Amino acid sequence: STIYLKDYQAPDYWIDTTHLTFDLHEDHTLVTAVLQMRLNEAVNCGEALPALTLHGEDLDLVSLHRDGEELENDRYQLVKGSLTLPVEQPRFQLQIVTRIRPQENTSLEGLYKSNGMFCTQCEAEGFRKITYYLDRPDVMSVFTTKVIASQARYPVLLANGNAIDRGELDNDRHYVTWEDPFKKPSYLFALVAGDLEYVEDHFTTMNGREVTLRLFTESHNIHKCDHAMISLKKSMKWDEDVYGREYDLDIFMIVAVDHFNMGAMENKGLNIFNSSCVLASPETATDATYQKIEAIVAHEYFHNWSGNRVTCRDWFQLSLKEGFTVFRDAEFSADMNSRGVKRIQDASVLRTAQFAEDAGPMAHPIRPESFIEISNFYTLTVYEKGCEVVRMIHTLLGADKFRKGTDLYFDRHDGEAATCEDFVKAMEDASGVDLTQFRNWYSQSGTPVVTVTDRYEAETGDYHLTIAQSCPATPGQEHKKPFHIPLGLALLDEQGQLLPLNAEGDKEQVLSIKQSEETFVFKGCKSKPLPSLLRNFSAPVRVRYDYSKDDLVFLMKHDTDSFNRWDACQRLGVMAIEQLVERFDEQAEQAVDSQLLDAFGVLIADPKLEHAVKAEMLCLPTEASLAEQAEVIKPLAIVAARKKVKQAIAETHSAALLALYNQLSHERDYCPEAADIAERTLKNVCLGYLAALDDAESLQRMAAQYNGASNMTDRRAALGCIVDARHRDEHLVEQVLTDFYDRYKDDANVMDGWFAVQSGSAELGTVEKVQALMQHDSFDPTSPNKLRSLIGGFTGNMARFHTTGGAGYEFLADRVIELDKQNPQVASRVMMPLTRWKKFEPVASGLMKKALQRIKAVHDLSTDVYEVVNKSL
Ligand code: ARG
Ligand code: ZN
Repeated sequence: STIYLKDYQAPDYWIDTTHLTFDLHEDHTLVTAVLQMRLNEAVNCGEALPALTLHGEDLDLVSLHRDGEELENDRYQLVKGSLTLPVEQPRFQLQIVTRIRPQENTSLEGLYKSNGMFCTQCEAEGFRKITYYLDRPDVMSVFTTKVIASQARYPVLLANGNAIDRGELDNDRHYVTWEDPFKKPSYLFALVAGDLEYVEDHFTTMNGREVTLRLFTESHNIHKCDHAMISLKKSMKWDEDVYGREYDLDIFMIVAVDHFNMGAMENKGLNIFNSSCVLASPETATDATYQKIEAIVAHEYFHNWSGNRVTCRDWFQLSLKEGFTVFRDAEFSADMNSRGVKRIQDASVLRTAQFAEDAGPMAHPIRPESFIEISNFYTLTVYEKGCEVVRMIHTLLGADKFRKGTDLYFDRHDGEAATCEDFVKAMEDASGVDLTQFRNWYSQSGTPVVTVTDRYEAETGDYHLTIAQSCPATPGQEHKKPFHIPLGLALLDEQGQLLPLNAEGDKEQVLSIKQSEETFVFKGCKSKPLPSLLRNFSAPVRVRYDYSKDDLVFLMKHDTDSFNRWDACQRLGVMAIEQLVERFDEQAEQAVDSQLLDAFGVLIADPKLEHAVKAEMLCLPTEASLAEQAEVIKPLAIVAARKKVKQAIAETHSAALLALYNQLSHERDYCPEAADIAERTLKNVCLGYLAALDDAESLQRMAAQYNGASNMTDRRAALGCIVDARHRDEHLVEQVLTDFYDRYKDDANVMDGWFAVQSGSAELGTVEKVQALMQHDSFDPTSPNKLRSLIGGFTGNMARFHTTGGAGYEFLADRVIELDKQNPQVASRVMMPLTRWKKFEPVASGLMKKALQRIKAVHDLSTDVYEVVNKSL
């Protein structure tokens, strides 16, 4: 059944306080909930008190008391998903005892077990698997949690807030009681019980309060917590400096767990993390992982204000906390590392994956209007496009007014469950900027297309720039109103200098585009300028402008905006590859575009360009991004054409690439700082090109890097290169894969990479190989990380997944059907690639559709898979 935003109603009752007692046992857990209930007078002022309906799933109700009186089972109704009971007083107390089985909970929602420890994941609607409750974010309550368990098995007992009591009980059992003074919705509840160790540090807040910081993990991983702890302290400082936000409890805890559906969760005072997003050592984590950890630790910490102190009224408002918090963590990462590169990476993900989502059958606005299963809406659209929408407000208001806006927002709504509208209103009220039309970003889905044309008048020196916008139809939204688009602009003269754009002499401007078409005139141009459009990726739109290859090469050299230099390079790459894709069926040998080859030569040799930006520019558009930009996706042609261009670049510039590789290959202690990361990244991009050469020497170089590596970044890069090298050596491939396995078989997070490198390999990643790996001793079929690595690696492997006459699709359909019974959230995520079936060339498209139809025919699908399969067929 579909739930609509327009049907939102405030709850009939509030829950002022929630007292929970968890009695944890090996075969079951008893949960006692004592709830102080109060009528919501704003909704109900009639004489009759409405019945109370609580959410609940997979619960055994042991007993139910209302104001001390036991209600027998003829006094309430228990149906799938809810418990309804009569109410006689506007204020009353409920005592509910339920029995649950965490050890059998494979959905990883609610209370479950991971490697012998108890942990929880309640967002969005997992709390209802713990007890009967008003499991909705607008019901905020003060929680007290007593956890009772075996002292030997579970020496550490954690919940939200501050520990207020602890003690020993009979039979080697003990307890700890936690109290969280801040009102919160049930989705922010957390509990952990396990045999854990911790590292401890401290942070003194801007007002001089001492906060204890603890990071918990299994003892064998305790040496991998330093980076997350450093990241946490940086985040706490940054949020004080940039947003004036101070931490509010005496203790902040992070717990690492191996079995987790997503990245991490911002539970009040007790963040729970997927171990892959928190644990790092130089030997086991790549640079990318180090940066991911820094970003996610910050993201969850920042939620303490944008999410917890001010939470969401309902799940349609999810982007209120997620879009804003992603914006906050992106700016934090930009401040800690290379700002230009962070922007390139984020824009690249958005354009590749979010644009694809917005063009597919599940397209939705950042504030969806309806859903069947909310778990399906933790999307790139809500998170990443949501971030871009907040960024556009930041751009339109400027940093100072934006900060006034966030101050007002936090001040107005502290302790409340708010809406996206509240956020925009606070921004308007604080800045005086009219965001009426801007609100279309919240209600309309689809990626706007901005088409730019220009005209130069030599006699007057006037340059006319005409900007037209449109947005393709998306499910349920045939026609769109124009968006309010901030469009970053500069004009380059023939020497590559930026021209003044106005009387003040500004050389960069953000045009505020509001009409379906408008023209801007720039005066005093001595010759026709070249426009640099959408600088810094100022809006989540596609820009169409008829750049010639010469224009793009020019922008690559002269543009002062890192994002646009990179984008010019990508556009040139896309042109060169698409040219080969179009002629893929013709037998004749097709030459690779010489302008591209020349431009890459200049790029490789450029002594002034920042290493990190150079590395990004040297990476050809990914297969996924080529697919996203194609009218019709031809997988084989894309793989072959991209490979051919890569080989041509490698062959043409082998000497320069090798020289650069050697220059960057010097021994030094591992340090995950931006400058070092940039050097390693560029070096490994060079190695990737060398792997595209057909010579034995390059292979030896890769083997040498693999064997000599002192950190995981270099070892993983070399492994990937060896596996997919052009000059293949089966024996070497076997040898390094075995070596890698022997070194890291006891480290679950590193082994994820071992599975991914194989299933994602154009050479190795066959259906048979993936099937065999699923039977491997180190493959844990209950671990979302393993499933994502192996199955996700394979579905992202364009050379294999799409080119097996449908065997890949059938394999995926089998996995989805099987997984749906175990973990619906993961099942629904891994099937996403099939939902893009309409964009593929006919044969592949038909086979993908067939696989979807087979999933659809299964009885008792979860709401997760049901929604995705039905919307995509
Ligand atoms: N709020 C979490 C975060 O932003 C994500 C939790 C998602 N959980 C889920 N079941 N979909 O990091
Ligand atoms: Zn989040």
